[in-house]
This record gives sequence, C-alpha cells and structure tokens, in this order.
Amino acid sequence: MLDILRIEALKAVELIKESEFIHIYTHYDADGISAAAVLASALHRLDKPFQVTFLKGLNQGVDCDADLIILADMGSGYPDIVSEIDANVVIVDHHFPTGRIEPKRSLVHVNPHLAGLDGTFELSASGTAYVVASCLGDNADLSAIALLGILGDKQKIVAGNAKVMRDGVESGHIEIVKGLNMYSGKVREVLMLSTEPFLDFYGKEGELDEFLRRVGIDGDAEIDELSGDELRRLSNAIILRLLKQGAYDGVIEEIVGERFVLKKELISNAVMFTDVINACGRASACSIGFAICMHDENYLQKGVDIWREFQIELLEELQKRREEVQEGKCIRYLLMDNAATTAPIATIISRYLLSDRPFVAVNVKNSTAKVSARSNPRINVDLGEVMRIAAERVGGRGGGHRVAAGANIPPDKAEEFVKEVDELCCAMLGSGSE
Ligand code: C5P
Ligand code: C5P
Repeated sequence: MLDILRIEALKAVELIKESEFIHIYTHYDADGISAAAVLASALHRLDKPFQVTFLKGLNQGVDCDADLIILADMGSGYPDIVSEIDANVVIVDHHFPTGRIEPKRSLVHVNPHLAGLDGTFELSASGTAYVVASCLGDNADLSAIALLGILGDKQKIVAGNAKVMRDGVESGHIEIVKGLNMYSGKVREVLMLSTEPFLDFYGKEGELDEFLRRVGIDGDAEIDELSGDELRRLSNAIILRLLKQGAYDGVIEEIVGERFVLKKELISNAVMFTDVINACGRASACSIGFAICMHDENYLQKGVDIWREFQIELLEELQKRREEVQEGKCIRYLLMDNAATTAPIATIISRYLLSDRPFVAVNVKNSTAKVSARSNPRINVDLGEVMRIAAERVGGRGGGHRVAAGANIPPDKAEEFVKEVDELCCAMLGSGSE
C-alpha cells in the first residue's frame, strides 16, 4: 500500500522540483504543524524557497501567489475549494476524500485513503508528508517530527505509521523505552497537569496526595526515573482510576507499556512535544510550535510557557463546562459561549469521562460557531458524515473522520444543528424511532 502512495508522492516530487516558489497551507493542530515542518525541512534541504501559512480549516479559498500550492492536512474533503485554485496543487492529506476535484492546473493528491490505507489511524498527514519527504531525499531524521502528528491525531502505530516509527528507530532518531507514555517531570505535576490521559486531579490536591500515598510513590520523584516496580504500581493505579472515571478502554494501551524518546529534537519526550505544538496552535502561535520542530532553540521556552498556560486554562474551562453537559437521545453535548477552547474539551470529555456516546461541543465566539465532535471506534457512527450532513442542513460546513470531526455553522443555528446531529446519530446507531 505504501508503494502505491509512493507513486503519487513521486509525482508530487516532480511538481515540487519544477516550482520556483512553493506556498504550504497547513492545519493549525499538531498533525498540521508537524506535516508542514517535515515538508519545510525537506524543501529547505533542496534550497527551494517556500512560505508556510497556518489555517483553522479550508473554509475559504487560498491565495494563488506561488506556482505550487501544497495543502497539508487539508484539501481532500473540500473539492470545490481546491478546484478554484489557479496554481499547481499538491494535496498531502489523510482526511477521507469526498467529491470530485476539477483542477485548473496540475494536481497531485497524496492521501493514504487513495492507496488502500485508512488515514484515520494508519497514516497521519505528517506521516504522508514524511512519505513525500523521503521521495525528495535522505530525510529519515524527519520521522521524529512526523511522529508528533501521529500522536497528536491519536493514530495507531500500525501500517504506514509503523514504517515512520521503524525509520526513526533504525536511523537512531527515535528510541522506544519501557514506561508510561505521559509527560516528563515530577510525578505530582505530571498527574495533575496531564490531559492525555486526563486523570482528573487538577484542583484536587488532597485526592492526589492520597493517591500517591496509597501507591507508595514520592510525588517529587521524576516520573522517568521510577523503578520498574514503582512504574508497575503507578500504571495499575492509573488504569484503575481511568476505568472508574468512565474512560474509553482503548486509551490504556496508548499510555501503558512504552514511551517514545526523540533523541535529537529540542523536546525529547514525544507526547510532551506533541502537546506543546498543539497548545501553540490552539493559542494562535503556530509559528512557535513550527520553529521548535525546525530546531530553533530561541522559541523553546516560549513554547513550553504557552503549553503550561494552555494546559491550566483548559483544565479550568473543563472543570466549569463538565457541569453543563446536556443529554440528547443518542448523544451528549455542550452549548458554550466564549469558551477558551472547543476541540480539547470535546476530546477529553469523550475519551476520559463520558465515552459511551458521541459527544458534541459547540462554541459561539466572535459571532461564529465552531463545533467539535468526538467518539471512539466502539461507537458505530461516522461523525465525519454526521458533521457534513448536519452542517449543510443549517447552512454551514463540516467534515472530518469517523471518530473526530467538526463543523462551522451559523451561530443562531446551534440548537437546530445539535438536534440534526442527534437524529443522524440515532439513525446510524439504529435507534432512530425511539
Ligand atoms: O484535522 P485532523 O484530522 O488532523 O484533526 C483530528 C483531530 O481530532 C485532532 O486534533 C485529534 O487530536 C483529534 N482526535 C481525537 N480522537 C481521536 C482521533 C483524533 O480527539 N480518536
Ligand atoms: O477542529 P476539530 O479538531 O474538532 O476538527 C476535527 C476534524 O474535523 C479535523 O479533522 C478537521 O479537519 C475536521 N473539520 C472539517 N470541517 C470543519 C471543521 C473541522 O472537516 N468545518
């Protein structure tokens, strides 16, 4: 399957090599930022002039100010907008392709779904960018940056992603060690600030102390330096807490057993690096996350500061919002005004607190409404389809993956939209007539 993808990637290489100036448009999350960093590093090594722009989505057209436009982590689900681009286009995306693109100039579409791979969990946009980069030159080191997008999009280390990991390990840029796949730092702080996994200790210092006492671990110890026995006790206690909290059990294998060390990057803990760039994106500071991926040490401290601030803001927002969750027939949802953030709240609630139904968060801010919808593979709905159809019915746009999707809708249509989503989910779950 990867061979089929490489054939498309080689066509992209031809377009890249004949271009004078390249404009990369990418998504503002960890996968988009790392995909852009992989492509930018490979272009830089070829002395190709380029520019990078970060977008929240491809809802509007892009400037055709270069002879080649690369759309990273976006494009496959928005054929009408891609059809309007008056330049050569390379799409490096992992979203399910919808509709027909009618390009004005040359188009190359590098997408795992078109090569027999499932882009939802077998190859991220950053992994797809890595396939293009490896056709452009000897870029095995970029596998370490590509791993950030794989983790950010909560993909599995299988198929195409496993190849990225293998290249990283074989070239000495990634090391897999035994442990907990969580942040680095002092145990108490890691457990309190963690959102992947979310352990619900923020603002509950007494409960955290009691937890540490029962597990018999010093909260001031470095988590990466715990003995094998301490690590086992801590892992067991974390698993138990997650299951009691209502977490989706699939998260456990992502957290327990091994962690990934990036040997030559500015942040060596892969999950922490992923969260730093994700936070930079959510805090409208994508270029800081991008610069850290490009090894610019000047931005490291700033990025870590943004991450810490973002983490606290998110945990506080979550404390407030979890009380406001409403029940539909087949979904749960939140209708928020001016929430600090939308997608991470939906991700945490759906993965770690209420994981038995699809979850939808709508946030009305600056007279627009942003929707994030999340579920998990045990729930038989395709949220990408649900978001696309429900958004169209209320005059908005939506799409995404089966388990993680989103939409932008008119703010006065939020309630109507949620009802449409609920009906569609009931119909997919086979309980529409209840
Ligand atoms: O645009 P893109 O596909 O990269 O965005 C997917 C988003 O959905 C990411 O922000 C990722 O963290 C989130 N996600 C999730 N749960 C999953 C898969 C993805 O919250 N199981
Ligand atoms: O913004 P959020 O992380 O919730 O987006 C989840 C997924 O939905 C992403 O893959 C994103 O590209 C997709 N999405 C979309 N159209 C929108 C909003 C989000 O395809 N209008």
